Amino acid sequence: MKGLAVIVLAAQLILVAAATLQPLEAEPPNVISLGTVDGKSYYYNKTLRSWFNSRAFCIENGMQMATIETVSQAEFLKSRQSLNAFSGYFEIAGRDAQIARQFSWDSTGEALTDIPGLPFRLNGGALDYRTCISYLASESPFLNIKECPLAGYALCQI
Ligand SMILES: *[C@@H]1O[C@H](CO)[C@@H](O)[C@H](O)[C@H]1NC(C)=O
Repeated sequence: MKGLAVIVLAAQLILVAAATLQPLEAEPPNVISLGTVDGKSYYYNKTLRSWFNSRAFCIENGMQMATIETVSQAEFLKSRQSLNAFSGYFEIAGRDAQIARQFSWDSTGEALTDIPGLPFRLNGGALDYRTCISYLASESPFLNIKECPLAGYALCQI
């Protein structure tokens, strides 16, 4: 019986040692960490990309595009603005439905459809319904409604 107890103890020691040797959770590659708030971690990369390429970048590096859903998350990001190079426009997960159905004819309730040769244009610009959100990291941050192809930096989260 004593021999068995020794074997069990040795096995337990090996398990404890193995658990201790587990590597720390690796940081994702190609990004700079902003830290953790509400149990999630924000990261950014300052290569200019379209909204869709920013989303692909986050996913390829094991993250998602960032969301900002609480006051504490907004205040956290604002507090990070003065750090490192976290300033400028960062693509985040917000976007419109990407479909013309967002507009309807008031008279009939029918959706507006895409008609070749008749583009949507916002007064003074080319902003149609295919809009995406970027976050302006600054002393006065805001959510910037923009055309998805216009380039910004990537803000990701885990
Ligand atoms: C940003 O991503 C690119 C790859 O697309 C990489 O070459 C670059 O080093 C990254 N920047 C940082 C700060 O990690």
